[in-house]
Amino acid sequence: MPRARAIVFVSGTLPGAGVTLLRASCVVVQDDEGVRSAAFAACRADVEAVVVLLTDRIDAAFLEGSPRLRVVANVAVGVDNVDLEACRARGVVVTNTPDVLTDATADLAFGLLLAAARRIAEGDRLVRAGGFIGWTPTFMLGARVHGSTLGIVGMGRIGQAMARRARGFGMHVVYTQQARLAAGTEAELGATFVAALDDLLVASDCVSIHCPLTPGTRRLFDADRLARMKPGSVLVNTARGAIVDEAALAHALEAGPLAAAGLDVFEDEPRVHPSLLARPNVVLAPHIGSADRPTREAMADKAIANVLEVLAGRQALTPVS
Ligand code: GLV
Repeated sequence: MPRARAIVFVSGTLPGAGVTLLRASCVVVQDDEGVRSAAFAACRADVEAVVVLLTDRIDAAFLEGSPRLRVVANVAVGVDNVDLEACRARGVVVTNTPDVLTDATADLAFGLLLAAARRIAEGDRLVRAGGFIGWTPTFMLGARVHGSTLGIVGMGRIGQAMARRARGFGMHVVYTQQARLAAGTEAELGATFVAALDDLLVASDCVSIHCPLTPGTRRLFDADRLARMKPGSVLVNTARGAIVDEAALAHALEAGPLAAAGLDVFEDEPRVHPSLLARPNVVLAPHIGSADRPTREAMADKAIANVLEVLAGRQALTPVS
């Protein structure tokens, strides 16, 4: 007999009014421990939808234990925490939250670029420690941002939003990804396509990573790649930590060629590689790319709207293909 009200598990505490809306038509089970919680274990056999975070792993074993599951709504645009193939095989719809976080994430990426290149976080630490003893012409010199060349790796929505910000700073923008953008989009962004990542690295004063984490991009920035970057260049990563070899990055920040880096993501969050923690020339942010209040509310709302659509037998709003 069909259940009148579907059971929906919500991982964590979400901002906004979405969960209240969900409660109007569903039985909501919520737990900050996510899908590892006892609350989830107690409802998993009957759950029809899960609203999950990037810290939740959704794999074949997970799906096995939840035979009634119809939709996995990830409150993130990246879906590397979800085994898409296993979901497809079981007919489980996977959704994410594109668009609503594009500008917030590009804001943070550009902020990290400025902070790393111009040594803002390092300067803040110095002032607080009483190390500011007066202006001198050679004190805390950093890398130049305006007028320099920004290389964007992955020119999707967030990469394009980064390019728009860079234009405002008079930067030259080059980009690489598998498929070249349409000529009109390139012209609007003022961005030049470079087919090979290694060529982009040689040409760029600053590099910002905006590609998804896939088997092909894991450790894309390894010791060899980092060694090819321009002397004195700056690397920013707001995508996924595992795209960069963190030990190799720490070495490149100490021995060159990198002048600085800005990171919002780490391979094994919330752990940060100790060799990065030891470097003064890396700005470390706690995965807050999308963390402005309206953006996080919009992400939660989108995830919940996706759940309601699928449970009503309609197409998800933003399915992951
Ligand atoms: C955050 O990292 C996201 O993928 O939305």
